[in-house]
Amino acid sequence: MGKELILMGPPGAGKGTQAKRMVSALGVPQISTGDILRAAVKAQTPLGVKAKGFMDRGELVPDEVIIGVVEERLRAEDACGGFLLDGFPRTIAQAEALGDCLKRNGRSILRVVNLEVPDRDVVERIAGRRICKKCGAEYHVKFFPPKKAGVCDKCGGETYQRDDDREAVVQKRLSVYHAQTQPLLDYYKGRGLLRSVSGIGSLEEVGRRINEAIA
Ligand code: AP5
Repeated sequence: MGKELILMGPPGAGKGTQAKRMVSALGVPQISTGDILRAAVKAQTPLGVKAKGFMDRGELVPDEVIIGVVEERLRAEDACGGFLLDGFPRTIAQAEALGDCLKRNGRSILRVVNLEVPDRDVVERIAGRRICKKCGAEYHVKFFPPKKAGVCDKCGGETYQRDDDREAVVQKRLSVYHAQTQPLLDYYKGRGLLRSVSGIGSLEEVGRRINEAIA
């Protein structure tokens, strides 16, 4: 059996941060639909042009757009032995499409780990997030600040705030999460695949909880 894993949780729960820390030990790729879409927006590809407005408003990109993107990514050679999905699925339709796609290839989901973080922490985490323009390294102005404000420790690049990390958009992303993505927790719980862990604490503490949930 491969390592077909899903990391879930509200916006800003730490999915991307933890996924990046986990993939080398797991030996599977991180597949982040948010990262795929942001790269497409930056490159102004047809996918990026379609996705941009939805992302800027904090809404979900339509299922029919994102499902095909993920199915194609899962066919890549590096995902044959498993993957760590971060930010997908986000709707029941996406979860069903993922299940069907894996089933067609004799595969199935091994575990879904949900990071629990209250809304007030989400807002603080997202509002303080900064990203390096050059190398993509992520910081937080309070929790993980770079040594010099606004300058990346790794490459000296300038850090910036994501357009959709502005407060009004964060509130929208949270309400979309509660309405459209949270129902997936029951969906996976009913299938015996869900493990919920607290996403509060140091990166090491949260990482340990995730590893225990996967083991
Ligand atoms: P996406 O990029 O997936 O956004 P998200 O789910 O809102 O996730 P974030 O990247 O904001 O948060 P995260 O949980 O990864 O947290 P992070 O580790 O960065 O999606 C963006 C948009 O794309 C969506 O709104 C939608 O439009 C579209 N989209 C994407 N996927 C889609 C799909 N499947 N269907 C339709 N549309 C889709 O951490 C956040 C901050 O907290 C950082 O600053 C970090 O340093 C800090 N932090 C992390 N861990 C801790 C900790 N333990 N303690 C304190 N601070 C911490």
